[in-house]
Amino acid sequence: MVGYGRQTPDSLENRREGVQHQARGTDDQLRFTVYDITTTPPTPVGTTAVLIDHHVRTGEFIIQLNPSSRGKGIGTEATRLTLDYAFHISNLRCVYLSVLTPNTGAIRAYEKAGFRKIGERRQSGYWLGQSADETLMDAIPAEFPGPSLVRQLVNPDS
Ligand SMILES: CC(C)(COP(=O)(O)OP(=O)(O)OC[C@H]1O[C@@H](n2cnc3c(N)ncnc32)[C@H](O)[C@@H]1OP(=O)(O)O)[C@@H](O)C(=O)NCCC(=O)NCCS
Repeated sequence: MVGYGRQTPDSLENRREGVQHQARGTDDQLRFTVYDITTTPPTPVGTTAVLIDHHVRTGEFIIQLNPSSRGKGIGTEATRLTLDYAFHISNLRCVYLSVLTPNTGAIRAYEKAGFRKIGERRQSGYWLGQSADETLMDAIPAEFPGPSLVRQLVNPDS
């Protein structure tokens, strides 16, 4: 994550503790492990999360993939499946995110998965030592692309 948001390196111990801490409180978050299913057995390659605000039934989307697993379509598919679950199982009305504007690969993956750009927050982040704008995006159930794979999995007759 160095250069993307942090200006200092993070230790593995700190990172691990942070993830374990987050994983303990699951009432207000969806948290998934992303698997590359083209390998045998499937390989864990990243995580997605939605941090839920129960008062208004919205949530903030977060994703990160292992560097060697990027650029293969996995991020797009993991984003789409997480939105699917958030809308059709968790019943959220809106899922939103902010992404550094120079992170064009992430923005492209989010757009392909169903997020729309809704604006920009100016000079609010850092990208490789330079201040940068953040792109704000959101997704709503009415615009979810395609049938719900999550619903079909739980109830094949739906
Ligand atoms: C952002 C991320 C989740 C995207 O997942 P991914 O699996 O790499 O993306 P995909 O393979 O699904 O690619 C989606 C699209 O973006 C394009 N793309 C991917 N990486 C790109 C890059 N570095 N620059 C420009 N376009 C890129 C792909 O070509 C594809 O578009 P196309 O189908 O029209 O060709 C992943 O790269 C990642 O974890 N990055 C580091 C962490 C991060 O930035 N998280 C987001 C913080 S908000």
